[in-house]
Amino acid sequence: MEVKYPEDSKTILTDLVLPSETNPLNNLFGGELLARMDRAASIAARRHSRRIVVTASVNHVAFNKAIPLGSVVTVEAKVTRSFKTSMEIFLDVWIEDRESGRRSKANEAIYTFVAVDDTGNPVPVPRLEPQTELENERYDAALRRKQLSLVLAGKMKPKDATELKALFENDK
Ligand SMILES: CC(C)(COP(=O)(O)OP(=O)(O)OC[C@H]1O[C@@H](n2cnc3c(N)ncnc32)[C@H](O)[C@@H]1OP(=O)(O)O)[C@@H](O)C(=O)NCCC(=O)NCCS
Repeated sequence: MEVKYPEDSKTILTDLVLPSETNPLNNLFGGELLARMDRAASIAARRHSRRIVVTASVNHVAFNKAIPLGSVVTVEAKVTRSFKTSMEIFLDVWIEDRESGRRSKANEAIYTFVAVDDTGNPVPVPRLEPQTELENERYDAALRRKQLSLVLAGKMKPKDATELKALFENDK
């Protein structure tokens, strides 16, 4: 089976925050950021699979830091793990200081995409091999996150979520 690396799917979207995209506090509207992350994740999933891809779930979003009007926002997406037909995409969101140009982390999120054929049926995707320490960490944790997402969606019984259970058992 074909093997791909996280770097193969790396997608970077950089854009400004315009007045029409802000909330009453003049910070980026959450739904706008979700849409930007969905677009970046979708491109990353497509680069990994070379297939039509659809968003299956948004597993985690942390709006840790408000993003002010006029900010330059960079959304960086990479596939962190592929399963049979699904892919986990990790998104890191950065803003850059106007004067120093220094980047700081604003938010992060994790999306799951599924590769499908022309009729919307799931199809297999290439295997992913992590390379760096961070890619390995995210790869290892992805199975737990998949199981949690499936349990919450009512698609897996908690007793079958072995990786997830191990996390709690090892913490005793
Ligand atoms: C996503 C979708 C293709 C999954 O179809 P399905 O009939 O549940 O298919 P399966 O049960 O075979 O699941 C396919 C894969 O998705 C994964 N999956 C499904 N729901 C999931 C969830 N909530 N969280 C994580 N993974 C999920 C399954 O684990 C499976 O992964 P694997 O093959 O890598 O093991 C289908 O639900 C769909 O088309 N949804 C609409 C997608 C869409 O329109 N998104 C845009 C929203 S506006």
